[in-house]
Amino acid sequence: MIVIETALGIAQACAESSRPLGLVPTMGALHDGHLALVKRARQENQTVVATIFVNPTQFGPQEDLAAYPRDRERDLGLFRQQGVDLVFTPAVDEIYPPGFDTWVDVGALGDRLEGARRPGHFRGVATVVTKLFTLARPDRAYFGQKDGQQLAVIRRLTRDLNLGLEIVAVPTVRDPDGLAQSSRNAYLTPSQREAAPVVYRALRRAEELWNNGVIDAGQLRAEVKAVLEAEPLVESIDYVSVAGGESLEELDQLPRSGQIRAMVSVAVMMGRTRLIDNVILE
Ligand code: PAF
Repeated sequence: MIVIETALGIAQACAESSRPLGLVPTMGALHDGHLALVKRARQENQTVVATIFVNPTQFGPQEDLAAYPRDRERDLGLFRQQGVDLVFTPAVDEIYPPGFDTWVDVGALGDRLEGARRPGHFRGVATVVTKLFTLARPDRAYFGQKDGQQLAVIRRLTRDLNLGLEIVAVPTVRDPDGLAQSSRNAYLTPSQREAAPVVYRALRRAEELWNNGVIDAGQLRAEVKAVLEAEPLVESIDYVSVAGGESLEELDQLPRSGQIRAMVSVAVMMGRTRLIDNVILE
């Protein structure tokens, strides 16, 4: 495994690597969700490139950039075990050199749901992901379904900018009690951790209703909300959304047939930890 810190270095190494090349962008603090991305990339590509970059432009002024967990040696060890070929670990200046001022903005899609709560977040994500795509020129890139809106944003920019790579969505990795794995779960107190699976239970309720023929999106939102509200450690509910899977526009009714998929997503605060999760109804 070769670790590369410069933009020029990773671009050259990728250009010289065997194809297909799969890219796994991360911010480090690796958990099983990240490893599932790497495993899938390893199965499908000749070369696997992973990145570790805590991207400052996707954090808001009130967010936890300084406190974001970082453990480079542990992360590199895990990538090595999974057979990653190249790891890109740039410093901030390497991605955003002095004078950098070109941004990728996906419009309304980035302003809904997480974007409404975290203004500018998806502009930061879209910009860094576009830069990583331009440097590595991957054939495929791997992202977790857990961050469903991020996935929709990356699919949109890939299509709108004709980047010509395949975006692969990897199913959410969950703890045995259903909690979706996330680097931020480390912030939960023991009692919050015990209560946190309520998020997935609420989403399962939507799936159950859908499987029983309910197509009224308002009813799904209300029932999901009721499950969340029954848990006293849920301090607030940021949103319960039932939206079209590509545009993330809120739906009135769920489509029973055809190509359109719906995403049910929620964001709640538990103490100072924000938990997000989603399921796809198809
Ligand atoms: O999902 C993440 O870890 C980040 O948002 C990403 C895609 C690596 C961009 O910084």
